[in-house]
Amino acid sequence: MQLKDKKVLITGGSRGIGKCMIDELVKHGVRDIAVIGRDKENLKELRRTFETVNFLLVRGDVGDLSVLRDMASKIQDEWGQLDILINNAGVVSAGPLDEISDEDLYDQIAVNFTAVLVLTKYCIPLLKISEEAAIMNVSSGLGLIGMPFYGVYGSTKAGIRQFSDSIRRELKPFNISVTCVYPTATDTDMMKTSQAKEMDTPEFVAERSIQGLINKKLHVIFGGQQRLNDSKLNFESPEKFDEKIASSYDERRDASLSHKAM
Ligand SMILES: NC(=O)c1ccc[n+]([C@@H]2O[C@H](COP(=O)([O-])OP(=O)(O)OC[C@H]3O[C@@H](n4cnc5c(N)ncnc54)[C@H](OP(=O)(O)O)[C@@H]3O)[C@@H](O)[C@H]2O)c1
Repeated sequence: MQLKDKKVLITGGSRGIGKCMIDELVKHGVRDIAVIGRDKENLKELRRTFETVNFLLVRGDVGDLSVLRDMASKIQDEWGQLDILINNAGVVSAGPLDEISDEDLYDQIAVNFTAVLVLTKYCIPLLKISEEAAIMNVSSGLGLIGMPFYGVYGSTKAGIRQFSDSIRRELKPFNISVTCVYPTATDTDMMKTSQAKEMDTPEFVAERSIQGLINKKLHVIFGGQQRLNDSKLNFESPEKFDEKIASSYDERRDASLSHKAM
């Protein structure tokens, strides 16, 4: 897929991996980018950072359906079509399930999962008008393997994987490709309260993800051979993977307690 002059909508493009994705898109000749984010200053900053881009900015929470509806109708009015949808915005609140607040449980599902399905739904008619369209969904390594203390977050991200497979098959007749990316720990605001030591840079994750989009890859999995080996072990011998995790139970529990970026 050629990115030049494509019209792109990205959620959570104001910081972290999403902002680095915008940088990559610009390098490939994209000039029209719509962004949803909550923080007004970060959105304004985008115009200063990427002077060549015509931004369509909607400030709001993707968990609020009226914000998603508003963005889709703005794109309809301004562009009349959409070429690329990137569902990137995400939040995390880790810890033992019985200690997570009901609000954090609901909000993780609303932002990481429900919003992706609803925004995609609203964008499909706009993507169908494009001659060559694509959707990129940002899942997580935790969407491939269920880890303790990330039951809510991981379930939303596993849902994104399943949704990506479904919608890719559903949209097959319409020339809309679907790529799902699975970052491992990446050095962004989201990880400030985690105790992860080795992390990918958001620039690296963005660069590989956008390459995956260009090449219409179905899955872009980070974490190297280790992640692939773990996935295989988890699928083929889950009891063996349980044992592996049990040996670091306390460490994982303690590290999860402070990990929150909502
Ligand atoms: N960092 C990692 O280690 C890692 C690993 C695996 C997967 N991921 C996934 O990668 C994606 C990007 O994460 P990141 O690390 O770049 O996170 P980040 O640095 O915390 O940035 C999150 C972005 O999403 C926006 N956002 C968050 N909640 C929102 C909401 N309710 N409504 C609208 N916008 C919202 C934020 O803007 P505002 O705060 O202004 O709204 C920001 O632009 C997420 O889906 C995350 O789950 C990250």
